[in-house]
Amino acid sequence: DWTPQTIIEQAVSRIRQQVGGQRVLSAVSGGVDSSVATALVQRAVGNQLIAVFVDTGLLRHGEREQVERAFRRSLGENLIVVDAAADFLNALADVEEPEEKRRIIGETFIRIFEREARRLGKIPYLVQGTIYPDVIESAAPDRSKAQRIKTHHNVGGLPAEFDFELVEPLRYLFKDEVRIVGEALGLPEELVWRQPFPGPGLAVRCLGQITAERLERLRAADHIFTTELAQAGLLGRTPPGSPQRIAQAFAVLLPVRSVGVMGDQRTYQEVVALRAVTTLDFMTADWADLPHELLARVANRIVNEVNGVNRVVYDITSKPPATIEWE
Ligand code: XMP
Repeated sequence: DWTPQTIIEQAVSRIRQQVGGQRVLSAVSGGVDSSVATALVQRAVGNQLIAVFVDTGLLRHGEREQVERAFRRSLGENLIVVDAAADFLNALADVEEPEEKRRIIGETFIRIFEREARRLGKIPYLVQGTIYPDVIESAAPDRSKAQRIKTHHNVGGLPAEFDFELVEPLRYLFKDEVRIVGEALGLPEELVWRQPFPGPGLAVRCLGQITAERLERLRAADHIFTTELAQAGLLGRTPPGSPQRIAQAFAVLLPVRSVGVMGDQRTYQEVVALRAVTTLDFMTADWADLPHELLARVANRIVNEVNGVNRVVYDITSKPPATIEWE
């Protein structure tokens, strides 16, 4: 019978059996799966675990601090935070094409992670937050490839030359089970109930040129939108499958400027698009019919509080034909 406690106990004894007294490396992304997998391995092997968190500079508001808050106490010095924002900004300078962005981010991530791994010496095991739906998907490679229209980048996508043996404690769990296990492990709610976030991060929501200033603009707008949704009870810890649950919501910074008026001054500034969808499997999705007064409040706050933005629009396309992300 299924309780978080029995799952944790089973996973812990499997992990111990697999890795014995050896060291284990984990790449924490701040996402649910890698966080829960890391916490499980920590529970199993304590300070044999070393976790690396790469701050790409492409993260959402407060995300790095959340990861530190969740893991510093249990991992201490074994949590390594790599500040790589400048590396990513340099690598992405003048790149606008979406697939090119994804490729560069994937490569840059691997290069940085590789550097850290080398510094730590030989570590035979690597934690992966593979969950059951990922296992099924890779068992049908042709189908999933045909359906996959974007190059997905995930923290786990390391090249074979690394020669790690994988530790995959979530292999038999579905997403909502992973969240329940995460709660039982004492991970913070904000992390456990977090919406999915693409590996390439804000880069694929910052359309056109990626600069520190534009990323900051996007991050601020996104934070306003998601905070208002959470306060309205529409995002975060809601019962799985409940109809009003927003599966994913975020801001997108568009590569156009439009004319506006502020006081009696003409403005010529950037546009933020808001995206919110309901979906069960992310293969198809409906745009969320959000309360108008909430949309109005969010739009108002964004143009008033975010420098350089004078217009907000709401995305009312479903998937298909649109995808959830804009790039
Ligand atoms: P699309 O935009 O294709 O996205 O409708 C479907 C879901 O996948 C997420 N997504 C990604 N997740 N790495 C990820 O781990 C990626 O490169 C990536 N690209 C998109 C997207 O946020 C949505 O939940």
